[in-house]
Amino acid sequence: MGISSVAAIREAIEVIESHLGDVRAPIGMVLGSGLGGLADQIESARSLSYSKIPHLPLSSVAGHAGCLVWGKWHGRDVIVLSGRVHRYEGHPLDRVVLPIQLLGGLGVQTLIITNAAGAVNADYRPGQAMVIRDHLNFQGGNPLVGYNDDRLGPRFPDMTVAYDKALRELTLAQAKEQGLTVHEGVYASVLGPSYETPAEIGMLRVCGADAVGMSTVPEVIAARHMGMRVLGLSVLTNMGAGIGANELHHDEVKVVAGQATAGMIELIASVVERLDDAHVRDDFRARFHTRMLL
Ligand code: HPA
Repeated sequence: MGISSVAAIREAIEVIESHLGDVRAPIGMVLGSGLGGLADQIESARSLSYSKIPHLPLSSVAGHAGCLVWGKWHGRDVIVLSGRVHRYEGHPLDRVVLPIQLLGGLGVQTLIITNAAGAVNADYRPGQAMVIRDHLNFQGGNPLVGYNDDRLGPRFPDMTVAYDKALRELTLAQAKEQGLTVHEGVYASVLGPSYETPAEIGMLRVCGADAVGMSTVPEVIAARHMGMRVLGLSVLTNMGAGIGANELHHDEVKVVAGQATAGMIELIASVVERLDDAHVRDDFRARFHTRMLL
């Protein structure tokens, strides 16, 4: 084990603030494949490449530029993490989730996290989306393994309602209003980087999964550990292996994710506009953590 998470967060925040000033925002967003364009819409944006921030793991996947962007979006102060790293790139899980813990340290209370996923539920179709109701962790690890620093969160965080109910309902209502087909279901997070076999997709379905991807769950565990509210959104880019005759290609995943971008950004914008004060309340624990950390 290297430097502790709290020490790493503190050092990273010091460097971010030396570049960008007094960064604070109640809303954080993690942009998955195809949604990077949202970061270009941030007003009064100040951004910093991950490569300038100490301890942050760097992404090696094409289309996953690593960058932190702070500014205003649809009237709200936001911090956007454009690009993410995955465990399959070889990073330990406690480093994969460091950007999320950084958001908590910067006062983020509500985390909106997006990804591209394969449909396991045969009623779903590519191009549609799914609000994550619950998840299955098949990463083969947990980011909270090791020493628990109580300043970040409890040793045994509750995961009964990992994905905030009010945020889910708001998102589904807005999707309906906008004429988007958005399901609500269970996201299974696997290690990758190989796509699943048809037998594995069958197993995931028996386990209750509706969609499968290679990210998000470690980040959500870290966010819940710190007490953030989480909204998880999957863009369904393909049917899971063996559902239909097609083989899976990352290029196809990127193309479909790109086609769904405009609708997804509009949906997330309408959610952000409607977050009530309960979602951005100032007495939130993450805020408290900020004071503890600095
Ligand atoms: N499996 C795993 N991860 C994915 C998929 C998939 O089918 N599509 C996009 N990300």
